[in-house]
Amino acid sequence: MNILVTGGAGYIGSHTIVQLLEKNHAVVAIDNLSNSSHESLYRVEKLTNKTVEFHEIDLRDSEALRSIFYSHDFDAVIHFAGLKAVGESSARALHYYQNNLESTLCLLEVMKQFDVKKLVFSSSATVYGDPETLPVKESASRSATNPYGQTKLMIEQILEDISATNEDWNITSLRYFNPIGAHESGTIGEDPNGLPNNLLPYIAQVASGKLEKLTVFGDNYDTPDGTGMRDYIHVVDLAKAHLAALEHLDHPNIYKAYNIGTGTAHSVLAMVDAFKKASGKPIPYEIAGRRHGDIATCYADPSLALKELEWHTTLTIQDACDSAWKWQSSNPNGYQ
Ligand SMILES: NC(=O)c1ccc[n+]([C@@H]2O[C@H](COP(=O)([O-])OP(=O)(O)OC[C@H]3O[C@@H](n4cnc5c(N)ncnc54)[C@H](O)[C@@H]3O)[C@@H](O)[C@H]2O)c1
Repeated sequence: MNILVTGGAGYIGSHTIVQLLEKNHAVVAIDNLSNSSHESLYRVEKLTNKTVEFHEIDLRDSEALRSIFYSHDFDAVIHFAGLKAVGESSARALHYYQNNLESTLCLLEVMKQFDVKKLVFSSSATVYGDPETLPVKESASRSATNPYGQTKLMIEQILEDISATNEDWNITSLRYFNPIGAHESGTIGEDPNGLPNNLLPYIAQVASGKLEKLTVFGDNYDTPDGTGMRDYIHVVDLAKAHLAALEHLDHPNIYKAYNIGTGTAHSVLAMVDAFKKASGKPIPYEIAGRRHGDIATCYADPSLALKELEWHTTLTIQDACDSAWKWQSSNPNGYQ
């Protein structure tokens, strides 16, 4: 297939492009590089010995987007592009709504114009807010506690609405749980801008000595060791879910959302232990109070993805920590 990947230079996009190229799909990647570097795609090319056509454009630039669609015959689009930092989204709500919503609307408009109507969208477990029952099923009620989550909810609604009124669209949202890890080669990985927002890159930078210690927010949750528990999924397993979703877009399926997680949760302290094992380094940490809005435990029921997409995870959190350490230790300054 000819696939357009938006946000292709980013963390999950670059890992997914490796999987697409390995299955002989042709990839065109676009990205405005607001949270990534072209270097990730040079490394993808080296890793796979294949080429990735790259265009540095902002998705909100419809003219630039149209010119790419004019010169290609895309079969489907995987839409990763978006801003994703929960905390920043509260501080810069308008910017998040403008970027994430406008870019998706521009993309959909141009796709419609060129009659490209197959789409896989990066959604998030954040659409479940504080889930009432665990594991979380796709049918659980949805809500958002921050502007980032709202943009995911709104985009899912837009996708559902256009699918309902126009049957030739074929759209799948993948609701990711907590992506971690790196390609096993350690040549591509998560390269946060500034202080990491996510747990694993933070731990990795503590292990490498870049950061002094980890702050664990809350040790009095109703969990076995008192720290919060999440469903951490290896980014390579997650990348493969996009291939499964693409293949499934050929089935008569108007709009569908799938949980992409492992179905099990690990605590913050369990992740610290796994990373200690991976790196052989001490991970000093201190306990602080709970963060507003954090929940005790969240993990997926991924059975729908298994049943309908025939996708399931194969890698462990230890695999993820091993690969993340390989990436961190061989690229202490990320792609720079
Ligand atoms: N990493 C996670 O924990 C996580 C969890 C759930 C969902 N997601 C979603 O998955 C997607 C990919 O996440 P990621 O972790 O790879 O993030 P990332 O920041 O590494 O990748 C997103 C990419 O989109 C690009 N981008 C942003 N706005 C753009 C625009 N207007 N035009 C063109 N490019 C633009 C950025 O430069 C970046 O390269 C995002 O939509 C994110 O919300 C991520």
